[in-house]
Amino acid sequence: MNISIVGSGYVGLVTGVCLAHIGHRIICVDNDPEKIKRLKRGEIPIFEPELEGLLKRYFKLKKLSFTVSIKEATQKTDVIFIAVGTPSKKNGDADLTFVENVAREIAVNMNSYKLVVEKSTVPTATGMRVQRTIALNLPKKFQSNKKKTIAFDVASNPEFLREGSAVHDFMNPDRIVIGVESKKAEDLLREIYKPLKAPIVVTNINSAEMIKHASNSFLATKISFINAIAQVCDRVGADVLKVAEGMGFDKRIGRNFLDAGIGYGGSCFPKDVDAFISLSERSGYDFALLKAVRNINEHQKRSFVRLIEDKLWIIKNKTIGILGVAFKPNTDDMRNAPSIDIIQHLQSEGATIKAYDPQAVEKAKPCLPGVQFCKDVFSTVSDCDCLLLLTQWDEFKKVDFKKVKQVMRQTIIFDGRNFFEKEKLEALGFEYFGIGRGKL
Ligand code: UDX
Repeated sequence: MNISIVGSGYVGLVTGVCLAHIGHRIICVDNDPEKIKRLKRGEIPIFEPELEGLLKRYFKLKKLSFTVSIKEATQKTDVIFIAVGTPSKKNGDADLTFVENVAREIAVNMNSYKLVVEKSTVPTATGMRVQRTIALNLPKKFQSNKKKTIAFDVASNPEFLREGSAVHDFMNPDRIVIGVESKKAEDLLREIYKPLKAPIVVTNINSAEMIKHASNSFLATKISFINAIAQVCDRVGADVLKVAEGMGFDKRIGRNFLDAGIGYGGSCFPKDVDAFISLSERSGYDFALLKAVRNINEHQKRSFVRLIEDKLWIIKNKTIGILGVAFKPNTDDMRNAPSIDIIQHLQSEGATIKAYDPQAVEKAKPCLPGVQFCKDVFSTVSDCDCLLLLTQWDEFKKVDFKKVKQVMRQTIIFDGRNFFEKEKLEALGFEYFGIGRGKL
């Protein structure tokens, strides 16, 4: 099928490349001409495993093209996905300006039936607003004469991709959610996803939008729940790793998303939780549970800093070595990374910060002024008064701690992700502090 994707950010690019991979002809659109130029050269603005190779392959095969023109994309394709950003406004609401602009531009350029699919995470009822925006902005010739009117459908098809495994997640989804108001729209979306083997949940647009809110909020709740348990573990001498293991075997609970740490970050959970709290409030419901989820997440960062202050005593003039700054491993994304708040706080207390991340250094530099970025683990930890692990990159598993011990000034490790083996490090003579490990 001929499909266009408006918005070549994270979601749009992965969706476009993967839809080409399963046999469709794709036009990716972005209003940033520089980005489009770079994409045509095969350069992708993000680090995402597998994406670059597939992009180059389908561009060469002419299954994937790039343009700045919504007009061109609208007129050459039958299905248009909207995957533009929905940033947070000051009050937590999602800012839908980009979505409205795109809907309007699609409308004025319509030349035949179109299915317009929202892919961006949007508040419930946005689909209806997109529908109305398109109807109000159709070319005048289609508005004035009823017989000549143009048909179109709007649908919701939320994404559930995790950064770092987005291509894999697209090709192997747990489920595909399709929110539609017509049989034609349902049939088109079923056809698009035919090559993927996954259960398809078909519902109306509002419910599809709600599935996305509910899923992300539930996952954030799971993380905050285990982080709250970790707080109690530290106080009563229990070990959250064992607690999560013991809970996780219960099939109703499951072990995934029970990793205690310095809190969730990224472009989705913090923003989506805020937006859902705000949406619920405006609909007349005080979602107190989600407010607590958000508070617990903020508390995790503060309590980690407090632990460091407690064990280091004076922060001023101490040198702190940091391993990992991205919001999670296998990505260079720094959006809402817990490392930002933690580092800024330690800097404000007068610490010197050295840091290393396998992928995120370039994106981290503007977010973390004053940090000295190093080329590897050893140069980061040498002469440091303590080491903080903030992102659990696989390559940190291979670190030779005997050597680390020789180059550090004080052998103290704060493991913000419970990633290292506590017993092994203690046997080597390190002071080790994890999250919820029951000994503070
Ligand atoms: C998430 C959702 O998983 C995805 O379905 C949605 O489409 C977008 O948001 P992503 O933001 O890429 O994806 O990351 P994810 O792997 O879900 O992790 C989010 C954050 O939670 C990270 O900061 C991670 O470190 C943290 N996390 C995750 C925990 O602290 N503990 C856990 O047990 C799991």
